[in-house]
Formats: sequence, C-alpha cells, structure tokens
Amino acid sequence: MKKVCMFGLGFVGLPLALSFSMRGCEVVGVDIEADLVEDLNNGVTHHLENYEGKPIQEILSEQLAAGRFKAIANGAAAMQECDNIIVTVGIPVEDYEHDMTPLIEVCRTVGQGLKMGDLVLIRSTVIPGTTKDIIMPLLEKESGLKAGVDFYLAYSSERIAEGKAFHEFENMPAALAGINPESTQKAFELMSIVTKAPIAQASRMEVVEAAKVMENISRDVDIAMVNEFAKFCKAMGVDIFELVSIANTHDRVNLLTPGPGVGGYCLPNALFYLLPKAKELDVNLELLSTARRVNEDMPRYVANLVLRNLPVAPGLAKIAVFGLAMKDYSNDDRVSPAHSVVSNLIDAGCEVKAFDPAVPEDYDFKVDSIEDAVKDAHGIVVLTKQNGIDYMDLDRFYGLMSKEGTPFIVDTKNLYEPELVNGKGFKLERL
Ligand SMILES: NC(=O)c1ccc[n+]([C@@H]2O[C@H](COP(=O)([O-])OP(=O)(O)OC[C@H]3O[C@@H](n4cnc5c(N)ncnc54)[C@H](O)[C@@H]3O)[C@@H](O)[C@H]2O)c1
Repeated sequence: MKKVCMFGLGFVGLPLALSFSMRGCEVVGVDIEADLVEDLNNGVTHHLENYEGKPIQEILSEQLAAGRFKAIANGAAAMQECDNIIVTVGIPVEDYEHDMTPLIEVCRTVGQGLKMGDLVLIRSTVIPGTTKDIIMPLLEKESGLKAGVDFYLAYSSERIAEGKAFHEFENMPAALAGINPESTQKAFELMSIVTKAPIAQASRMEVVEAAKVMENISRDVDIAMVNEFAKFCKAMGVDIFELVSIANTHDRVNLLTPGPGVGGYCLPNALFYLLPKAKELDVNLELLSTARRVNEDMPRYVANLVLRNLPVAPGLAKIAVFGLAMKDYSNDDRVSPAHSVVSNLIDAGCEVKAFDPAVPEDYDFKVDSIEDAVKDAHGIVVLTKQNGIDYMDLDRFYGLMSKEGTPFIVDTKNLYEPELVNGKGFKLERL
C-alpha cells in the first residue's frame, strides 16, 4: 500500500490524511503547529467531520491505534518515509493581499527531501499558474531533480465543504492535471484510492487551478446577487426567502440563500487569488470585485437591522448573538461574517454576548451558555445554525431578556415564523 505524506493537517489535510489511512495507506501528517501535532497524536481534534456517521475523533483514534496515521512537525523526516506527497497548505489573505510564505516554505521543505520517483500533488487553492511557475522551479532548485523526469508533479483542486469532507473526498467529482501525462497518471492512481467519483483530467494544471478559483468566485457572485435581492425585498416589504422559493420553481433559475455575508477560508479569499493574475494580464474583473464588496458589506447591513430595533441607545444595549461560525454547522470561524456583525455592534457601543457551542476559539464577547448570552439582552441576532442551540426555546429566551422595550430577534436564517415569534412577545426582523 502507498506511503503518503500530508503537508498541512487543517480542515482539508486531516480528514484527507485519514481518508487515505482508512483505506490502508501508511500516512504521515506534517504540520508546523506543534500543539496541533501533539493533540492529533493524542487523538484530539475539534473538527466536526464524520464518515458514515463515525465521528472524526473515533476515526483518528482508530488510525493511530492501527499505526497507519501519525502526525509530526518534522517535514524532512516525513519525506524520508513517503513517496506520495500531498500539499494542503494554503495561501492566507490579509487586508486583500495574499501571502505566499506558508506555501513557499512547505514546498522548500518538500524540495529538500524529494527523492527520485516521488509524486508531489498540490491540493491547495492557488493563484492560477502557481504550480508551474513557482512551485515547480522551487522543487527543482531545492532537490536538483527535474519535474516530469525525476519526480512527478500534479495539481488537483480541493472542492470539499467543511463538515462533509470524508463524504466529498470520496464522492465529489475531482479535477486533475499533471506537468506531463505520467504525472497525471500517477496522481490519478493516488487519488483513486479515496475518490470514487469521476476525476476529470485537464490538459494543463493552469486549467484546474483557475477553475477552482472561479468555482469559488461563482458562488460568491451568486450569493452577492441574492443578498442584493434581499435588500431590495426588505425595502419593498417582500419576504426574500419566500421569493427565492417561488423564483426557483423556474426550471432554469437557481437562486442561492441570502445570509449575513460569506465567510471561511475559501470563498472570500478566492477573488484575491484571481486579481493578482488579472493585474499581470491587464484584465478588468469589475463584476467579481463588486460582488465581493456586496458580500463584505452584508454584516454592516445586518448590524443595522439590529441597531434599528434597539429600544435604548446603542451604548446601553445588550445583544445576544447566536452562532459565530462562518457557516451553518461549522466550527470554523475564520473570516466569519458573524465576527464583522459583532464588531459593527461593538463599534456602535452595544454590549455583545455571543454563543456558539461548535467554535473552540475564545473571545472577550463569547460566552459558554445560551443563558449567559440571552440574559438581560434587548435583542437576539441569529447568524449561524448550530447543533447545541435550541433556537425554538422562545419562552425561556423571553423570560431571560430585558423588558426595556419589546425584545426582538433579527433572523438571518429564516428560522422563525412571524406569527409564532410575535405570539411569544417578540418583534421579528428577517433579512
Ligand atoms: N477548508 C475548506 O473547506 C477548503 C475547501 C477547499 C479547499 N480548501 C483549500 O485547501 C487549503 C487548506 O485549507 P484548510 O482549510 O485545510 O487550511 P488550514 O489553515 O485549516 O490548514 C492548513 C494547515 O497547514 C499548516 N501549515 C502551515 N505552514 C506549514 C508548513 N510549512 N508545513 C506544514 N504545515 C503547515 C497550518 O498549521 C495548518 O494547520 C487551502 O488552500 C484552502 O483554500 C479549503
């Protein structure tokens, strides 16, 4: 069975590493975060993944016990043990600027340990052209070996959604291209151990790299469109959620669901992987940039829905926030629109108490129970659906909340029927 080295043990790398080990491969996972490596070797992870109902925590423990998975921080040592190297370290974006450093660092380590006949498969989301123009020369320089001759090099986009990782590694159609046909074939054989769905083979790695970025941006644009429709509907007094369900009875229309914004590592970053290349090629991406701005503005819009319902001045207001994750049923709050809603409210002077049982990170405004969030609050804003929050416990919320004015709920998730909520004594403001 194959020996696989997985660089990066985050939301993609860990479940992917376990997907290979579950199928008999010997997998060494590499991550620079020493605490993460230690936790994983002790069977601890906060991820909310499962395979056919079996939680990732159980899968991790089983694979550790079977000796098929281990995590280490020393990439050079891992490279000695394996000949199939998969890279899942991403390109962070900060203040609209991408940072290649982590990906360059990881490729330098891979290059230094590269052996004749190794396969390097890049699965990170990248600026189109990165694998051939940046990674390949780096690997060649560090190793003294030639891509496509001495080692195989390929790119395959990662399409999973967090929370469905195991299922989607197996069942989501994938896309792949190599530096030469032999590399494509080698990568195809490796991926086929986990992926049972079709694996489309493209003529060039750039096609797959660019397609991945555009797949993400297309969702960002679709969501921006429906978020703009939501603003229009609100002004007109029409329920956007009802409108979406009516519009989608059209066979060729598929409006997505509006929400408090677009978060996570993937969708908001995608444009900033395309823009640098577009600038280099002198291509104007006006629509895409506008869509990004629309989604980025949604948290401010949602915060304003809260502020306009306050019965007291913002400086005296207490707000309960339900859900901090970047999307429903996720523990990932990176680039979460919920954080922007919270900052908007805090900047306006409100006291915010947020509850999200799935998100492990601590923040000053985060509390450990729904009671702590709701107690004495003037209003609730629902930003994310999570297991572990009983959104329908309205009588209890009402009992705990401030009666200075009418308690209100801002519902960005279409959870509440107006009649029910109004009947319980709340004002309801939907997106
Ligand atoms: N999260 C998703 O749902 C998702 C979906 C599709 C594609 N992607 C893409 O997959 C890639 C990984 O995303 P993620 O969400 O798993 O990121 P992540 O931040 O959860 O994981 C990346 C891991 O890489 C580690 N790392 C950084 N530098 C390293 C180095 N030099 N050596 C070893 N490890 C190193 C980090 O410590 C981190 O644990 C990104 O390119 C992302 O855009 C993510």
